Amino acid sequence: MSDDLTGALEQAAAQAREAARAARSLDELEEVRTAHLGRKGALTALLRQIGTLPPEKRGAFGKLANERKREVEEQFAGRERELAAARLRSVLDFDPTTPGPRPARGHEHPVLAMLREIEDIFISMGFLVLAGPEVETEYYNFEALNIPEHHPARDLQDTFWMETGAECRWVLRTHTSPMQVRALERFGAPLRAIVPGRVYRNETLDATHEATFHQVEGLMVDRGVSVAHMKGVMAAFLERLFGQKIVIRLRPHYFPFVEPGFELDFGCVFCGGAGCAICKRSGWIEILGCGLVHPRVLRAGGVDAEEFTGFAFGVGVERLVMMRHSIEDIRHFHSGSLRFFEQF
Ligand code: PHE
Repeated sequence: MSDDLTGALEQAAAQAREAARAARSLDELEEVRTAHLGRKGALTALLRQIGTLPPEKRGAFGKLANERKREVEEQFAGRERELAAARLRSVLDFDPTTPGPRPARGHEHPVLAMLREIEDIFISMGFLVLAGPEVETEYYNFEALNIPEHHPARDLQDTFWMETGAECRWVLRTHTSPMQVRALERFGAPLRAIVPGRVYRNETLDATHEATFHQVEGLMVDRGVSVAHMKGVMAAFLERLFGQKIVIRLRPHYFPFVEPGFELDFGCVFCGGAGCAICKRSGWIEILGCGLVHPRVLRAGGVDAEEFTGFAFGVGVERLVMMRHSIEDIRHFHSGSLRFFEQF
């Protein structure tokens, strides 16, 4: 029986020493120490059994047990010195003058970046940059732009109406064009201005249609402004934007607030006009609406339509960004997905 006890003692002592060696921190070492040497520890339980041995065996076993216990305690003490030294070293190695990790820095939304770029181009051509209200009156969004209440042209832009009184009806602006009239009222003619901003349409959403998107309106009013000026400014704008020589063409198109009105295409810069996926194999990309400001619009802005003429244009910003970066779905822009935005 004492041989069994001796075997158990040797095993318990070996396990305790191994556990001390394996401890990775002072806290862990303390836990292990309690498990082996504490009041309820494995080794302690064995030592208690000395009393159950026949008296003639107690002496030898007791001696051995105390020796093993001392060895285990030494092992713990040695490991404690090692761990304490390592901790001290890590404290001394810490250099408080080392710069900390920098917080990750974000960047502009690709649509905002495009707006800034367009602003810079027009500022360099002497245009003011104006902002207008996103909640607009029916008058400025439609009537002042020669779109009367029961005219079919109203249906071109389905609208979000605000629930307000009958005497003045409010809408989320469907385009930036209402600022043509507001700008003329405020600054008069001659005037060169662009209006970047957010617009809203009651659209069915798909890969190319969003209910919220951005436009840049442009307006140039002076004596003798013609379609030739418009073509020149539009070509200069697109050449700066795409960084290369550009050809443009005008196709007649109806917008109630211009006369004549056009849709402007430019020769595809991605395939050189040969035909590719971006220009839908036509060699041309439809990019903006434009035309000579309708005399009614000039008059609504308080400008003498006999003395002044002007051109206006409106360009969708998301489409430009999508083209430049080959983005296939407009809905990415409002997704808030960093996996999308970190690519720009
Ligand atoms: N406001 C028009 C639209 O949103 C674009 C446009 C602006 C057309 C100015 C002609 C002149 O479709």
